[in-house]
Amino acid sequence: MRTLEQRTAIITGASRGIGRSLALALGRAGANTVLVARSFTDLEETTAEIRHQGSEVLTIPADVTDAVAQAQIIQAALKRFGALDVLVNNAGQCDVAEFHTMDEKRIRQLLDVNLTAPLLLSRLALPHMLQQRRGHIVMIASVAGVVGTPVLDAYAASKAGMIGFARTLRSSYRGTGVSASAICPGLVDEAGIYARVQQETGVETPKFAGSVTPDQVAQAMLRAIRFDLAELYVNSLPIRPMLLIQMLFPRMAEWLFPRLGADIYRHALREYEHKMRLQS
Ligand SMILES: NC(=O)c1ccc[n+]([C@@H]2O[C@H](COP(=O)([O-])OP(=O)(O)OC[C@H]3O[C@@H](n4cnc5c(N)ncnc54)[C@H](OP(=O)(O)O)[C@@H]3O)[C@@H](O)[C@H]2O)c1
Repeated sequence: MRTLEQRTAIITGASRGIGRSLALALGRAGANTVLVARSFTDLEETTAEIRHQGSEVLTIPADVTDAVAQAQIIQAALKRFGALDVLVNNAGQCDVAEFHTMDEKRIRQLLDVNLTAPLLLSRLALPHMLQQRRGHIVMIASVAGVVGTPVLDAYAASKAGMIGFARTLRSSYRGTGVSASAICPGLVDEAGIYARVQQETGVETPKFAGSVTPDQVAQAMLRAIRFDLAELYVNSLPIRPMLLIQMLFPRMAEWLFPRLGADIYRHALREYEHKMRLQS
């Protein structure tokens, strides 16, 4: 989809963090944006910024795991703008925890938000995109979906699922005008989940891990949509050699990656635990 001018784009999790940058970038590219998140107040701030840029925006406070809300999001976008061209599945949650200590309800909830909701929203969007013979589904996944990242087990599983889904959508719908991309950011600073973890625990980004800003993730998303790119790994340092090592030599990856910074969330978890001990 070479141009985003007057195209309609739904962005979930658009109220803050990476999603806010994705929404602003789509608005700047000329798209009509439909912003989704649970907190109306936070959404309003992004909405005001997009309006200030001069683009059309529709705000939908909703939980992406709610089946009724999922249908309403798609219908509201179609009703307001008459088409649905881009769906950016960005809303996500992350727990920094030893997997065996997470309760079952929380694991299900996390997978619901990060994986099941994106699948179900895509299922609802696809018939309209196919009818238009134009559409692009973006999965905001993560490097953690490929590279073993300790204490993010449930999160990593959901992100690996997103990558697999995007790959398969591309194959299933080849030739229809509808396609998909997976965007896999590394450690995102300035805003979002990792920036909060840094703030709360004081962990520093390891030199060899690299980092990336929300705006760089947004630029990658725009390139993926415009040039129909399959998978983009967004990081300040080259990450593809690591991905190759992970795929071809997984045991070497287990030895190497902690030395390159993959252990960062484990350090953060220790800090959280230390703080809790001090408080109790
Ligand atoms: N930050 C990183 O380092 C990093 C790296 C790689 C990938 N990612 C991915 O990037 C995406 C955005 O992450 P972020 O760092 O920007 O996180 P964030 O700052 O916590 O923002 C998450 C967004 O998702 C929304 N959200 C959460 N649960 C929701 C639900 N059930 N229904 C609707 N909206 C929901 C939040 O709004 P409400 O709470 O108001 O609903 C918020 O707008 C995630 O998929 C994450 O996995 C992040």
